[in-house]
Amino acid sequence: SSAIPATPSKDFKPDYQAVRAAIEDVLESNDEYDDGSYGPVLVRLAWHTSGTYDKNDNTGGSNGATMRFGPESGWGANAGLGDARDILEPIKKKFPWISYSDLWTLAGVVAIEAMGGPQIKWRPGRSDKEENGCVPLPDGRLPDASRDNKHVRDVFYRMGFNDQEIVALMGAHAIGRCHADRSGFVGPWTFSPTTFSNGYFTELKGKWHKKKWNGPIQYEDKTGELMMLPTDMWMVWDKKFRQYVDLYAKDQDKFFEDFAAAFSKLLELGVPFEKRDFNTSPSSPKPMA
Ligand code: HEM
Repeated sequence: SSAIPATPSKDFKPDYQAVRAAIEDVLESNDEYDDGSYGPVLVRLAWHTSGTYDKNDNTGGSNGATMRFGPESGWGANAGLGDARDILEPIKKKFPWISYSDLWTLAGVVAIEAMGGPQIKWRPGRSDKEENGCVPLPDGRLPDASRDNKHVRDVFYRMGFNDQEIVALMGAHAIGRCHADRSGFVGPWTFSPTTFSNGYFTELKGKWHKKKWNGPIQYEDKTGELMMLPTDMWMVWDKKFRQYVDLYAKDQDKFFEDFAAAFSKLLELGVPFEKRDFNTSPSSPKPMA
């Protein structure tokens, strides 16, 4: 069953539901890991594999799954994502017909849905690049948490997002946490880091002060348990961003709707989909030019 025909027979029907089920099975398979879920780190993998996109030259993005190789795998911004890639490896072995780039992006979608988030439109069609066939991307395409609103806009406008989409996407920080050994920052943004909600926005509207420590500048709430990055604080310090924080703090349905649209767009940046029906294109695509 593991033999993959070079040209899939016309009867071959990739079973994405089976891949989704395998991803769901792995999410809470290790009680020892973080808050008992691989969901957040899989969402971060889907975001970082996509967030390298530059609309000006159509480079980067999830297509190619180039984070399998250096230098991208070694970027500081990608520290810890080897874990996420490793968790998915047995699934890739079980379903060898799916590309890494489809698998990584689908895992982010399945994780968000399983953690109580919105349904996200996802379609296959990404193809993996070979190591010797890809021009390495320059480091610095992913955002730097210690910088300001101008930096955030530079990075996300380069991908083709507007202010509202930026704030919606940032709401993913409702889940997961920062790790000292990965980013240097520490702690979760909410008290329910494995539930996808608008909790990031409701927390952001509370009181925050600089954490007193020797680490990088980060902010904490009065309990000292929750954290915000400098780029998170800019979501309330910047008036244009702030209006969407207020909106999403009040209206979770609106947040879910806008997040689902922006996240789906993120995962498709730079992907040359064949013109086929949504969700039916084969995942054994033609080689990249
Ligand atoms: C975690 C920065 C936007 C999803 C993190 C961490 C940092 C960070 C420093 C901690 C990594 C670690 O130590 O493990 C930023 C910055 C952003 C940004 C500077 C933009 C200005 C986003 C977006 C998404 C996202 C757009 C998804 C839509 C996540 C998730 C985690 C995370 C789910 C938790 C990972 C885990 O628990 O292992 N981010 N992020 N982030 N980020 Fe972001």
